Amino acid sequence: MSSLKSLYQPFAKLLAGKKLHLSKSLEFNTSFKQELAHNLDFVRYTTLELCANEIKRNNVPGNLAELGVYKGDFAKRVNQLFPDKKLYLFDTFEGFDEKDVSTEKRSNFSSGEQDFSDTSVELVLNKMKYRNNCIVKKGFFPDSAVGVEDKFCFVSIDADLYEPILAGLKFFYPKLEPKGYIFVHDFNNDLYKGAKKAVLEFCVATNINYLPIPDSGGTAIITK
Ligand SMILES: C[S@@+](CC[C@H](N)C(=O)[O-])C[C@H]1O[C@@H](n2cnc3c(N)ncnc32)[C@H](O)[C@@H]1O
Repeated sequence: MSSLKSLYQPFAKLLAGKKLHLSKSLEFNTSFKQELAHNLDFVRYTTLELCANEIKRNNVPGNLAELGVYKGDFAKRVNQLFPDKKLYLFDTFEGFDEKDVSTEKRSNFSSGEQDFSDTSVELVLNKMKYRNNCIVKKGFFPDSAVGVEDKFCFVSIDADLYEPILAGLKFFYPKLEPKGYIFVHDFNNDLYKGAKKAVLEFCVATNINYLPIPDSGGTAIITK
């Protein structure tokens, strides 16, 4: 044990030089289960889990949604945390749409060149612990949302590009239950500048605020 302690300081110093800081997260909270602890983006998934705990503690009604699912790696965690709620999955499952990409290029938000077409509905559904809770909305958003009238307690908007992110905020925020959360990925990601633009524009127009968190994509969290 003491030899481990003597290793800690030099190791922590070495990591700090690489801008990696060692800390024990939530070490004074014995009830925190850390179900999602083993993953690459600790801050993103741990914040999801803490928000899920708040939603449960407050008995917030409403369903779940993700706009921008790709291979379902975030959606599967949302599905796992809420065994009793429907999870809407919005994606083309064929990558970005040209209409959105042309805005990106015209406004210098991003190259819009990242390819997210190597996925499928089946691949995503096979990862889901509660597969029967999933409602797949395949197609271009916001067209794919026509007819969805549900209220939501948790929404992840991870569509990377300005147009779908803004459309997602306009669609989901009025449907967000009080004490619910919207996570907008890439708010502090210089490779997708349209994400921040969409959040700022929406928050100013709606007179609401957001909380930026230091996960790898730089998520902004909106609540009600
Ligand atoms: C970064 S990926 C999502 C990653 C996923 N949330 C995760 O954490 O693993 C972005 C996804 O947004 C989807 N997308 C972007 N614009 C869209 C639109 N207008 N309609 C539907 N899907 C869209 C893309 O097809 C792509 O799969």
